[in-house]
Amino acid sequence: MIERVQTVITGPHHQHVVDTMIPVAKPIIGDAEVEAVRQVLQSGMLAEGKVAREFEKEFAEYVGTRYATVTSNGTTALSTALEALGLQPGDEVITTPFTFIASTNTIAMLGGVPVFVDIDPDTYNINPDLIEAAITERTKGIMPVHIFGMPCDMKRIMEIAENHDLFVIEDACQAHGATIDGKHVGSFGDVGCFSFYATKNMMTGEGGMITTNNEEVLERAMSIKNHGRGRQGGYSHFRIGYNNRMMDLIAAIGRVQLQRMPEVVRARREHAEQYNKFFADYDEVRPQVALPGHKSGYHVYAPRLFSESVSRDEMIERLRAAGIGSRTVYALPCHKQHTYLNIKEWRWARFVEYPDYSALHLPNAEDVGARHFEIPVHPGVSDSDVGHILSTLKEILSG
Ligand SMILES: Cc1ncc(COP(=O)(O)O)c(C=O)c1O
Repeated sequence: MIERVQTVITGPHHQHVVDTMIPVAKPIIGDAEVEAVRQVLQSGMLAEGKVAREFEKEFAEYVGTRYATVTSNGTTALSTALEALGLQPGDEVITTPFTFIASTNTIAMLGGVPVFVDIDPDTYNINPDLIEAAITERTKGIMPVHIFGMPCDMKRIMEIAENHDLFVIEDACQAHGATIDGKHVGSFGDVGCFSFYATKNMMTGEGGMITTNNEEVLERAMSIKNHGRGRQGGYSHFRIGYNNRMMDLIAAIGRVQLQRMPEVVRARREHAEQYNKFFADYDEVRPQVALPGHKSGYHVYAPRLFSESVSRDEMIERLRAAGIGSRTVYALPCHKQHTYLNIKEWRWARFVEYPDYSALHLPNAEDVGARHFEIPVHPGVSDSDVGHILSTLKEILSG
């Protein structure tokens, strides 16, 4: 086996591995992105304005909602949307522990209480069968997260929400291009939130978007993200707000990236299908499962390992030694993070009652956390890379 040379560049929450390593993520930046940025720079109008409005229109059309509005990143999309939906201190929001911590932190930032419900071990997403038992009189909403780009069971979740008068905020930060019966995620709940972080299916470096069909929620979100201003802008302010805006300079990149989406999603699905087909012959490797009619955008491809001869960590080590980017993503689910174990130190703990997160045992989230390993699935993975990945896996799994 050929040993590959590795160069690792560390970002805020990811690693780029370059040279002969096949990286787990690789943004596509072409002449079109450079030209779009150049045009905004030359216009002299860099802050949120005309280009952002165009990006919003195009993104809403792509997702299939009436409205969309840009934000500075996925975290501010979620926090702005939660505030626009009326989340108050002490309100509970039911969500998944198997996610990037920004999802649940946005609830806690506003004084809300994240209520963790275990996942389905096959889809890696919140288990709808467990949601109703977690509802109390303080529950205000549900935040399903389409993890790794795999759609949650939105039909069941929306039914539960309607029966209990709860809002639904879809965290679609990893799920650009993911669909249920041909309909894009981010269009099922009251609100959808997307991230355009540098490694996402479509990216602007940092960036975010809120999608909704509710005009009132849109108006509130646009005001909250812009210092509490009204539509007319200027120096009249109506509520406490923030600066969660996106620069036109950034929106210009987003518009180009959006055009790339059909090809990006096609390539990701093609790679994922090749991997799924390969793993079908191995009982000890089980990929994330799509429910009928559900299609992942495959932001991340991370199967679970049940092998008795090779440990998960050994698997990752051996893939890396062969020049294949591999890692765990949420080895530590949110309820096991110090953030929640030490929640009494958070400023809202003086006013809000939190559950004892340290007493939580969510076996499926913990098990998927312990078993998954990521392999590269992005469009930059060539046919020969796929060949190398599959032959390396074959070698590792056969002994
Ligand atoms: C599931 C999920 N939620 C929220 C976020 C936050 O997005 P951002 O990093 O753009 O703030 C991310 C992205 O990293 C994410 O993956």
